[in-house]
Amino acid sequence: MALFYTVDTLQRPLLKARAEGQSIGFVPTMGALHSGHLSLVRKALEENDLVVVSIFVNPTQFDKEDDLQKYPAQLEEDVKLIEEIASDILVFAPTAKEVYPQKMEAKQYNFEGLEKVMEGEFRTGHFDGVGTVVERLFEICIPHRAYFGEKDFQQLQIIRKLVDLQGIDIDIVGCPIEREDHGLARSSRNERLSPTAREKAGMIYAILKAARDQFDQKNAEELNQWVIQQFQEEESLELEYFEIADAHTLTPLMKRQTGQKYRAFIAVYTEGVRLIDNIALN
Ligand code: PAJ
Repeated sequence: MALFYTVDTLQRPLLKARAEGQSIGFVPTMGALHSGHLSLVRKALEENDLVVVSIFVNPTQFDKEDDLQKYPAQLEEDVKLIEEIASDILVFAPTAKEVYPQKMEAKQYNFEGLEKVMEGEFRTGHFDGVGTVVERLFEICIPHRAYFGEKDFQQLQIIRKLVDLQGIDIDIVGCPIEREDHGLARSSRNERLSPTAREKAGMIYAILKAARDQFDQKNAEELNQWVIQQFQEEESLELEYFEIADAHTLTPLMKRQTGQKYRAFIAVYTEGVRLIDNIALN
């Protein structure tokens, strides 16, 4: 495993690899790695000659200062976890100055509405920050393929839109959600929960699965009401939103169209921690 802190030093082996015709797979992360991140790294290893993992907690995508401050920094542990998978992975852990040499601010994008709903509605400016850092990391890491988790399904669709709009020649690969034993989608935020809340939060996935199973019998409004009721009965979990949307455009489902794919999206608070999840409905 080789650890790089600067763009220049990282690009040396990357440019050499590209010149030799090797394929580069890229996994952007904010560190505090868990098996969800590692599943992306494994997939990248299967499909590419060389893999780069970036670890950078990107300030411009946080709408709450407090969330940024609480973000766990554990580079040493992260590096160890990556090393256990393969010894020849390149890890890029830049300072903010390397990523934002001019001014640390987000560009403004028009993702054709994808950025306006759900996470975009509840986290102002979040996707401008994500788009800005991912575009910059693509420029630095010059990959052929980049790997993103379906855990952040809206982010994945926005990145697909980003490469499309900016004419960036990188294949975006979506990877399935890794879960804890009780069903909770893996996230670095889960560490902030008490063991009881962590187990209880498994209910989020149970409700998503039950909603999926009722998708053919109930319309969107009925399902919405059903989900709201489930959370009213569970005091420790506070529902922020539940939304059924077209998996491609992310527009809320009004009337089901044959041949369209739909997904349910959810955000829930427990013990002050915000958790998100989603599921394919058909
Ligand atoms: P981060 O939250 O660290 O996630 C890095 C990648 O891991 C994302 O693509 C995310 O969807 C994926 N991931 C996280 N938990 C997962 C799980 N349980 N199963 C499968 N994949 C999972 O997402 C970001 O960082 C940032 O926004 C980033 C893209 C790095 C830009 O700063």
